[in-house]
Amino acid sequence: RKGKIRQAMRLLGKMAPEERPTFGKAVNETSDAVSGAMENRRAELASERLGAALVDDLFDPTLPGKRENRGTVHPLTLLDWRLDEIFRSMGFYILDYPEVDSDFFNFEALNIPADHPARDMQDTFWLDDGHLLRTHTSAGQVRAMKNFEPPFRAIFPGRVFRYEATDASHEHTFHQVEGLYIDREVSVANLIASMKTLLSEIFGREVLVRLRPGYFPFVEPGFELDIGCLVCNGGGCPVCKKSGWVELLPCGLIHPNVIKAGGLDPEEWQGWAFGLGLSRLVMMRYQIEDIRLLLGGDIRFLEQFQGTGLE
Ligand code: PHE
Repeated sequence: RKGKIRQAMRLLGKMAPEERPTFGKAVNETSDAVSGAMENRRAELASERLGAALVDDLFDPTLPGKRENRGTVHPLTLLDWRLDEIFRSMGFYILDYPEVDSDFFNFEALNIPADHPARDMQDTFWLDDGHLLRTHTSAGQVRAMKNFEPPFRAIFPGRVFRYEATDASHEHTFHQVEGLYIDREVSVANLIASMKTLLSEIFGREVLVRLRPGYFPFVEPGFELDIGCLVCNGGGCPVCKKSGWVELLPCGLIHPNVIKAGGLDPEEWQGWAFGLGLSRLVMMRYQIEDIRLLLGGDIRFLEQFQGTGLE
């Protein structure tokens, strides 16, 4: 602001009116010439710097840039989001229960006392303080009954843990989605109808279901539910081992002892529950042959899943 051009501009005010145009024009031209020269010099300096960088052997401007790494959503999460959406639209709560839980919620409350042989069905990681890593999402059943006023319906997806040797179809950590429905006068017919509706929603088409007896201490009666093979539509193919049916999930009517453990009167309240193997469903959905790929953390595997599944 103290520069010569500014000073000259200030003089303008004190001049006689007839002198102003010529003087003003001269000052403006000078000003333009000076800024133009500065601009040119700046550009020259910049290109000199670039030139110097270009002859530096450590800088190769022809190398391609680094592509930014974009994360992808894990297939377990993709399917879990999809299920959450379906169940939420059908009035289910989506609940989240602890992975570290007590003997009580994981076993006792589910009609599996300490000396019960059914404990051998699920080899357990025990913690030093007597807690355990939940072996199934069923550990949330009695928690949910204590948390909510019946009637209610809920799913609780999550990680579960089993102390077992791993191979292509066994992993020490895997994912399940528990379904729980508590109401008055719940029957097997009701269970079948609910499962049919849910599975048709999940698979986006009409699904045939079939029940076989299955044993779990916390359901009575208990079932293994099969669905008509979606690959061959029941005609028989390698996926269903030519039977036309694929084993999908265990389920059943909740045992009265479990209803009682949840603080409810089994004369008044009944329910059904299912335990969907989310890891297995993901494997079926994306034709993944080894369960260990799911939590193995191999980027090349994970990168194959794009999008959010919610489009
Ligand atoms: N919790 C059982 C398991 O993981 C599955 C199950 C859930 C069975 C609900 C019946 C009802 O093996």
